[in-house]
Amino acid sequence: MQTMRTLEKEIPSARESPFSSSSVSLPAMGPRYALRTYGCQMNVHDSEKVANLLHHAGFRPAEHEQDAEVLLINTCSIREKAENRLYSDLGALREWKAAGPGRVLGVGGCVAQQEGDSVLRRFRHLDFVFGTHNLRLVPAMVEAARSGQRQSRTEESRSLERFDLPERHAAFEGSRPGQSFLTVMEGCDMFCTFCIVPRTRGREISRPAAGILAEAQDLVGRGVVELKLLGQTVNAYGRHDLRRGKTAEAGTLAFGELLTRLAEIPEIRRLRYTSPHPLFFDEALVRAHAEIPEVCPHVHLPLQAGSDRTLERMHRRYTVAEYLGIVERLRAARPDIALTTDVIVGFPGETRAEFEETLAVVGEVAFVDAYSFKYSPRPETAAAAMDGALDPVEAQERLAELQALQHDLTLAANRARVGERTEVLVEGQSARGERQQRGRDPYHRVVNFSVPEPEEAPPTGSFVSVELVEATPHSLIGERPKDRPELKDPLRLVDGREPASSMA
Ligand code: 5AD
Ligand code: SF4
Repeated sequence: MQTMRTLEKEIPSARESPFSSSSVSLPAMGPRYALRTYGCQMNVHDSEKVANLLHHAGFRPAEHEQDAEVLLINTCSIREKAENRLYSDLGALREWKAAGPGRVLGVGGCVAQQEGDSVLRRFRHLDFVFGTHNLRLVPAMVEAARSGQRQSRTEESRSLERFDLPERHAAFEGSRPGQSFLTVMEGCDMFCTFCIVPRTRGREISRPAAGILAEAQDLVGRGVVELKLLGQTVNAYGRHDLRRGKTAEAGTLAFGELLTRLAEIPEIRRLRYTSPHPLFFDEALVRAHAEIPEVCPHVHLPLQAGSDRTLERMHRRYTVAEYLGIVERLRAARPDIALTTDVIVGFPGETRAEFEETLAVVGEVAFVDAYSFKYSPRPETAAAAMDGALDPVEAQERLAELQALQHDLTLAANRARVGERTEVLVEGQSARGERQQRGRDPYHRVVNFSVPEPEEAPPTGSFVSVELVEATPHSLIGERPKDRPELKDPLRLVDGREPASSMA
């Protein structure tokens, strides 16, 4: 599941989301919709898919929710807090719904999948609920709601059809120039004992390689140069089909081969993937980081805990030594690789000594960044029935301790990069101020850089070289170097040169 992220850190709010209503400029025609998105990158991408389906059905984005006739909430249930957010949103939206006759309110995503009808029963002003496998039904459900029908559609589908969505509508071209998500597999069969995802996203299913490659071709035709491959256990891609004896001719590839094939598309400059599971991190994937220049030198590899006993009870299916073995092989293949992770503290029965083992592993690996969470019991998961719940104060203290350690590690990693020149894919204006731009380097670090007067800001979706001059705990600050030739073809060249995509 490792694709999940904290709401606060990683996921743009609905308003900032590249596919949010405000980022697509279209003439106001057709009924208008707004989308709120919570949760992981898979959810962000699902919202993009829903927005695209609505566009194809003639709907248009609203500037503000207050102008919308249709409001959809894409929900997350990874921790209790995320789920509760839906209920407080829905309570507050009674007024929105009452303010306009014919307004339609729908809820999708993981809470919808899990709770289905019961949300509909509890909130009378809610028109419909759509599950994670039913995105393509959304336009029809909106229409049905407009004629007064209330419904919940949360059937799990095992069909590959759900990957065959319409092409990206022309309206979205340029909404996130240069970058795109690309779903390669969905669902999860791992059943980690703390995790609700296998229940909300269903069984693991890989998309045929031909469809992935065709979508990649379509995306590069629209100016995409960086692809982020998505899947709950993305590097398990193809494993069930391969085991069943399906051949490459039948469209089945292993994950490493899929990366190779995508990297062969000439326009692709960067390949990322999230999130891999340590159990499936094979030699081919390690080698991909050494041998395929387009595969970025960053891996988000969820650790969850640094104690074998805890890992066992989490049903993670690897030991600390095995995890550290992957780290060692990755670093041998690509010494500059940046590693980030997810950690849960306060899992039922976690002793102080076990928590300290986690601290030790985090320190030993020296992650560049870590997302850490207090364990939150989720319905119908095995861990929810385990003894040994931690005192919430103790869990909070452990979280703070881990976060303090990570803060120091991140700052040290950022400081070590000051003086380096890096390649940034520009994402737009930075929150830091007027002539400040923001983007990400190959290591997935956020880089803010200033644009000196009277220069024009480099366009979103272009690559620029940036000299790192300062480190903060959350980002790197850079300047455009003075000794650079003119930018000619921003999507292909870095400051006029063919870039070295590999930083090794
Ligand atoms: N409680 C706390 N954190 C959780 N995660 C998943 N389930 C839970 C839970 N029940 C964390 C894991 C996962 C990340 C996205 O969310 O660390 O990798
Ligand atoms: Fe990831 Fe485990 Fe949850 Fe699957 S069950 S999504 S592997 S944490």
